[in-house]
Amino acid sequence: MHYIRLLRPVSVETTNRREEVLSVLLTITTDLGDSFFGPDEPSPSAVLAYPADQKSPLQWRAGMRVLKAQLRLREPLPREKTTVCIFARGSDRSKTPSVRPYWRHGYEDEQAELVVSVSVDMANRTCAPVSLRTLPLPRQADDGDGASNEDEHSLELGEDIGESIARHIWDAGLVTASFLGDSCRSAAVMADILPVRRDRINILELGCGVGILGTTVAGIIQDAAAAQGQSLLEAQVLLTDVDEAEERARANIARAEEVLEWRQTHVSEEGNGEEDESEEKPRPVRLEYENLDWDDGRQGAFGPLVVARAWDFVVLSDCTYNVDSLPALVGTLSALHKHSHSFQDDDVAADTRVILATKPRHASEEALFGLLGEQGWAHRVVKRVPLPRVGAEDEGVEVYVLERKESGQE
Ligand SMILES: C[S@@+](CC[C@H](N)C(=O)[O-])C[C@H]1O[C@@H](n2cnc3c(N)ncnc32)[C@H](O)[C@@H]1O
Repeated sequence: MHYIRLLRPVSVETTNRREEVLSVLLTITTDLGDSFFGPDEPSPSAVLAYPADQKSPLQWRAGMRVLKAQLRLREPLPREKTTVCIFARGSDRSKTPSVRPYWRHGYEDEQAELVVSVSVDMANRTCAPVSLRTLPLPRQADDGDGASNEDEHSLELGEDIGESIARHIWDAGLVTASFLGDSCRSAAVMADILPVRRDRINILELGCGVGILGTTVAGIIQDAAAAQGQSLLEAQVLLTDVDEAEERARANIARAEEVLEWRQTHVSEEGNGEEDESEEKPRPVRLEYENLDWDDGRQGAFGPLVVARAWDFVVLSDCTYNVDSLPALVGTLSALHKHSHSFQDDDVAADTRVILATKPRHASEEALFGLLGEQGWAHRVVKRVPLPRVGAEDEGVEVYVLERKESGQE
């Protein structure tokens, strides 16, 4: 997967000919930033921006590392909030380019699907300091009435603008979020991966980064429960990471809250045709953040939000590529399982199920399964999503379910 990344904020400039242009400096690179997009066909790929003039797209050619350009605007950029979207178009021009090309993992238009678009909000003609990835959630059942708009169905995740690859989305998170979004209304798939057996559910994300997996799970959990005939009264999703990730994760939680609230209201309205005053009303999915470093987690040293609950699910994506941190990570999973088991008397979750997504990058990562086995975790793969790459060897994302029945032995 390649990502269009802004290397500096977009700016509005006026040329000598008094034309207004958007000035952009971007690259198209992988999540690790270790290779650049190189279409292996003779024609260059088009990179377009909205609301710039679409007739003169930017040309990204194989071998390029950076693209600096001025894009002519069709009309002066308004002072009100405007979203500028930058996206790639495949060589097949008959296909309409989508500004949100990465939701489906079916890859209909391979090139467009595999170059992830980016957007920025401009207010007062000044670019916000974060770029945004937009992740559409599945639409609600009654969308046909036109009462809702796109924003109510999309999660926006802010990323840093610039060269650093920290605080970005990663392939395994993106693909797994897409897979869960696509499958959340399938009873069979959800019962296998995200079984909902009671009306309160607690989900914790480890190494959340900008929060793509956790916020998506928060967005789809009501649908996943409904597909299994459950109505959730309460759902808690707690994102965790090291403190450097906190600011960006919290900002993305704030972005997601409005969407989650809207969806919850909608689900409640749909489900409450005959409302009983005495019935407990479902609450919106609660999305929170707390720091959790695995070096502390492996010792069972958790913050107050982790301690407060038993965790039905732990989710994590792209956290297993650094072999040195695997013992602390696996130790944290076991400590969380032990913590949840201690709630057993209260008739709440006892066994923590883990959903782990990874894009294997090198053979040494296999050490994960040895460490898991040593601590009593059984693993099974529930989904493999092929990840074709333009101009390079194909990859894939694997989603595992890990379960451990006994508590105690560390
Ligand atoms: C490759 S990123 C993946 C981020 C996110 N899960 C995603 O899929 O986009 C790995 C994440 O693990 C976090 N991480 C690494 N070591 C950690 C540790 N010891 N404790 C907690 N988080 C850690 C990093 O801060 C980073 O956010």
